[in-house]
Amino acid sequence: MKVRLAVLAAALASVIAQDTSADAPATNPNAPTANNDAPADIGEEPPTVKPVAFNGDSEHLPTHPDVFPTPQTPGVGDWASATGKARDLVYSLSIEERVNLTTGVGWSNGPCVGNIAPIRDVFPGICLQDGPLGVREVDGASAFPAGINVAATFDKNLARARGHAMGVEFKEKGVHVALSPSIDLARAPTGGRNWEGFGADPYVIGEMGAKTVSGLQSAGVQATAKHYLANNQEHYRTTSSSNLDERAAHELYLHPYLRAVQAGVASVMCSYNHVLQSYACENSYLLNGLLKRELAFQGYVQSDWQAQYSGTPSALGGLDMSMPGDSTFYSGWSYFGANLTEAVANGTVPEERVDDMATRIVAGWFMLGQDEGEYPPVNFDFFGKGRENGPVKDVTHDHADLIKEIGSASTVLLKNDGALPLNGDSLGAIAVVGDDAGPAAKGPNGCVDQACVDGTLAMGWGSGAVKLPYLVDPLAALEERGAQDGFGVDNWLNNWDVNNEVFEGVVSGKDAALVFVNSDSGEGYLTVQGNQGDRNNLTAWNNGDEVVKSVAEKNANTIVVIHAPGQLDVEAWIEHPNVTAVLWAGFPGQESGNSITDVLFGYFNPSGKLPFTMAKQREDYGTEVVYHDTSPIPQINYTESIFVDYRHFQQENIEPRFPFGHGLSYTTFELSGLSIEGVQDQDLEEHADYDADMLGASVQEWLHEPAYKVTVDVTNTGDVLGGEIVQLYLQFPRESGEPPLVLRDFNKVVLEPGQTKSAEFTLSLYDLSTWHSEKRQWRRPEEGLTSVVIGTSSADERMVQSL
Ligand SMILES: *[C@@H]1O[C@H](CO)[C@@H](O)[C@H](O)[C@H]1NC(C)=O
Ligand SMILES: *[C@@H]1O[C@H](CO)[C@@H](O)[C@H](O)[C@H]1NC(C)=O
Ligand SMILES: *[C@@H]1O[C@H](CO)[C@@H](O)[C@H](O)[C@H]1NC(C)=O
Ligand SMILES: *[C@@H]1O[C@H](CO)[C@@H](O)[C@H](O)[C@H]1NC(C)=O
Ligand SMILES: *[C@@H]1O[C@H](CO)[C@@H](O)[C@H](O)[C@H]1NC(C)=O
Ligand SMILES: *[C@@H]1O[C@H](CO)[C@@H](O)[C@H](O)[C@H]1NC(C)=O
Repeated sequence: MKVRLAVLAAALASVIAQDTSADAPATNPNAPTANNDAPADIGEEPPTVKPVAFNGDSEHLPTHPDVFPTPQTPGVGDWASATGKARDLVYSLSIEERVNLTTGVGWSNGPCVGNIAPIRDVFPGICLQDGPLGVREVDGASAFPAGINVAATFDKNLARARGHAMGVEFKEKGVHVALSPSIDLARAPTGGRNWEGFGADPYVIGEMGAKTVSGLQSAGVQATAKHYLANNQEHYRTTSSSNLDERAAHELYLHPYLRAVQAGVASVMCSYNHVLQSYACENSYLLNGLLKRELAFQGYVQSDWQAQYSGTPSALGGLDMSMPGDSTFYSGWSYFGANLTEAVANGTVPEERVDDMATRIVAGWFMLGQDEGEYPPVNFDFFGKGRENGPVKDVTHDHADLIKEIGSASTVLLKNDGALPLNGDSLGAIAVVGDDAGPAAKGPNGCVDQACVDGTLAMGWGSGAVKLPYLVDPLAALEERGAQDGFGVDNWLNNWDVNNEVFEGVVSGKDAALVFVNSDSGEGYLTVQGNQGDRNNLTAWNNGDEVVKSVAEKNANTIVVIHAPGQLDVEAWIEHPNVTAVLWAGFPGQESGNSITDVLFGYFNPSGKLPFTMAKQREDYGTEVVYHDTSPIPQINYTESIFVDYRHFQQENIEPRFPFGHGLSYTTFELSGLSIEGVQDQDLEEHADYDADMLGASVQEWLHEPAYKVTVDVTNTGDVLGGEIVQLYLQFPRESGEPPLVLRDFNKVVLEPGQTKSAEFTLSLYDLSTWHSEKRQWRRPEEGLTSVVIGTSSADERMVQSL
């Protein structure tokens, strides 16, 4: 299932030689004019994409170049056989049938959130279903930890294992296409859907996204990388224009898609927003240019639900599948469907374009072997209309063990003044405080798509949420531990009444007081406590700061646990002398209480690291959600360019509260013996003859082969078993315009006390390059030395060596 790059590159080379625009239609009078420029030339000449210059200070709105036509799928490498079979099938279909493959049956007209109808007895149809942390809105499936937690594990194996386990569940429920993973960058810390994705660093997102794709697809389910592109806030998501420059586009936002394409992802979902003034789902620069040409993506582009805003422009702009098919929910009409058939008949859309859409879609189905044997029938009805096949099928297997492990492995020990781990045998009694410690009054699924803060938080809200089969709350898990070890557990779950004698009696005099605080966010179609998806603030919800402060006044061993979609402002109490330990537990899924209890009591030695920076004040982040803008198309200017998160903090020399990559352990590690070995000719010059117009320009084999091998020895110098996340950063020469440090790889090493193992990394020429906007290539800096920096956080440089 994995794309073997060597094969792909070789095959691409021959396709490039044949000129991919050979199948392009002759001049098309109706080509879209996204930029109000002259219609794109879609004649014989290969198109030229000009770089986008943008710094946010011009009077003119920044626009993107037009790129036509849509490259036809090359059908090479691992896609060769599937695409061949798809072509055969597609050519046997009538135009109406081919069009039907591209158009969903309409919102609520099938059992899944998206459905493609069957065609006679030759194609059984497709079920598409949310979401990034499990099968949405069904019974008998698991609630996995959120993407942000997977990122915090910095453990590629766990990312893949979770992907595979989710894939098994999707498949057994009858889903062909999982709408997972979300690989959006957490640009602004309050972005509502940050928890669905993998944090604020493109390489972490790229690795975790690729592992999730290969895990899902190893179970036989098509993965969907989303939301393409620059869909980084919920406010104005259907009207705003994300304006970013080419360098930021390549180095930050496109990189995770490159990794997903390399991992063989079957589908990419285009997003609701405009990018550089055109809607993402009709944006020829994004779809035809970057995705299908530069990355040579061979799968299909599906629209986000109702994110298709036009017919012909989206067809020519590179969209392959309209979801859910009717262009507004329940309307019954479509920009595709009969309109697409007519557009082909009247010559507006070339028939080859529709053939390519259908071929790409059916190729995904063949790629995953979904034609082989009996694919499980859809076992649920998302819309509750009773279209499920048979009784509820339990597909959870033993996934609870993995969920619990990821929950523990993603817990980040931010601060520890020796308070942790707790020893159950020597404890007399503890207090458990805060509404985030207990069960929900309305039960674990009491709110639509989890849109409420009721009891402990295990996920955010929106289409990325799932039903919880059960939720182990922290209080229940701690009470169970107390019963086993023989210590008392007293609790106080009311956050709004924390200054009275009863409260004081619960909290003071206990060996430790564990305070659970939270913050929530989600998708913008639902508003919670005035938060329209994006968070309004970064502080704890429901009086959380007052709860911590009140407890800390009364108990000298106050331990705080945070459940949040990302950053939390902890300044109100972080330096309080009685706050002896702080843990970030993210959104850990159904085993929440068990995961955190294992960490608190040392059954799991914490190894999680922050996949984002935690600032001392909100202004320090330098990126913000646009909350108020009355213009018809609010302009979201990514003027920070590549300086997001730690790239910005380090560039501006701002001291964070906790740096990116930070996380403590109950043991200590020593790093030594950094060695760097060149394993291929590192000269890019002989490859200088390419640019972004070339099919597959950024996924060429030589660009991604290991150029250097880096090894470093890690020793556990403490008393207990533990895992360390060794992080490899590059320090580019200052003239390169890069920030002081950029992460390029990471590895988890698990060691017994006294044990030494080496961590191994490879660096490709791609890894060693930055995007050169004028040459429109990946290039190594021409002057100055690039150094490898090994650390255990972005602020902890243990070893440096120049290449
Ligand atoms: C965004 O950038 C454009 C182009 O430079 C500028 O015209 C516009 O005023 C900016 N918008 C905002 C909200 O800063
Ligand atoms: C196309 O799909 C629609 C339902 O979405 C169906 O009514 C129609 O019969 C299909 N057409 C063909 C030719 O299969
Ligand atoms: C075709 O698209 C138009 C909007 O452009 C819409 O009004 C019409 O209903 C569509 N036709 C069908 C059959 O969906
Ligand atoms: C062709 O059909 C499409 C879809 O119905 C329509 O939008 C377009 O205006 C038509 N063009 C011509 C030239 O008739
Ligand atoms: C932050 O937002 C939450 C949720 O809306 C609210 O409970 C809390 O009071 C807010 N914090 C501040 C300091 O306004
Ligand atoms: C810390 O807790 C103790 C109770 O054990 C209390 O007496 C003391 O005042 C607290 N310190 C602060 C700064 O609140």
